[in-house]
Amino acid sequence: MITQSDLLSVPDMPDVRAEIDRLRWQKNAVVLAHYYQNGLLQDIADFVGDSLDLSRRAAETRADVIVFCGVRFMGEVAKILNPDRLVLLPDNTAGCSLEESCNPSSFKKFREKHPNHLAVSYINCSAAVKALSDVIVTSSNAEGILKQIPVEQPILFAPDYHLGHFLKRRTGRENMVLWPGACVIHEQFSALELRKLKVLYPDARVVAHPECQDSLLLCADYVGSTHGMLQYVTESTERTFIIATEPHLLHQMVKVAPHKRFLPAPGSDGSCNCAICPHMARNTLTKVYLCLANESPRIEIAEDMRLRALQPLQRMLDMSLGIRAGYAAE
Ligand code: 13P
Repeated sequence: MITQSDLLSVPDMPDVRAEIDRLRWQKNAVVLAHYYQNGLLQDIADFVGDSLDLSRRAAETRADVIVFCGVRFMGEVAKILNPDRLVLLPDNTAGCSLEESCNPSSFKKFREKHPNHLAVSYINCSAAVKALSDVIVTSSNAEGILKQIPVEQPILFAPDYHLGHFLKRRTGRENMVLWPGACVIHEQFSALELRKLKVLYPDARVVAHPECQDSLLLCADYVGSTHGMLQYVTESTERTFIIATEPHLLHQMVKVAPHKRFLPAPGSDGSCNCAICPHMARNTLTKVYLCLANESPRIEIAEDMRLRALQPLQRMLDMSLGIRAGYAAE
């Protein structure tokens, strides 16, 4: 087992990127990365995407090994879809505040209290919560999937309260009971500070992730998944954008539209430093090399739970054929 300190003690350690390339070729591995990963990781990945695109890629891959540069629930999705492939997470402590907000036993009780409700769960939850759900959604397909469910069917939506609240407004569905979870990163963006920034940049378009609080979403010109936000700034004829999500998405924005200006949205202290996801930040290039070399840490899921989690996940993939990311301004 090679460790990080072994690497530090070897002054002639070859270029980590070259080693990652050698190992991924030798092991027939694919590297998938979320847009919230640092730029170095996005640049070495075979595919960078939002949660839906990454799930679709994981479902289609023919690689023997999947290295998931993201957080645990994303690696779990890849494993649920690929039980016979090795799924590696560079740092197995990379979690998610939304996942933490919804423990499976409390979620089970929540379901039992509402026996006639359909459980629609946001993909940012554990495999155990997925296994207790009826349909999974992501930020890009949630509205499209809800519209396929008869309006009279009551729904439980977990774990993101803000996304659930936004969807209630978008779909006009009053019969949705929301779990009180939130993303600690997106909750920090402040509508008050955003309005102050807009005074300085009156022409800027505001682009926000639906995990933000409602007060902020109501100021946005566009609300969508990370992929949807990227698409919006690429296609827009405007030149300045305020971006309310984890700021590593700006790495791709600057790449696809280098002539445009992207300003990270401010938090309640007026600075833009609060929004870096500490879980995503745990993954590094060295850890990608180590996980490929050691074939560890691995994502493992008990087979009975995997099979139960697969059903709502597969339902999501089937129900989101042809769905385009994002929502136009309200
Ligand atoms: P996206 O599906 O928009 O990439 O969202 C991922 C996420 O985890 C947001 O916190």
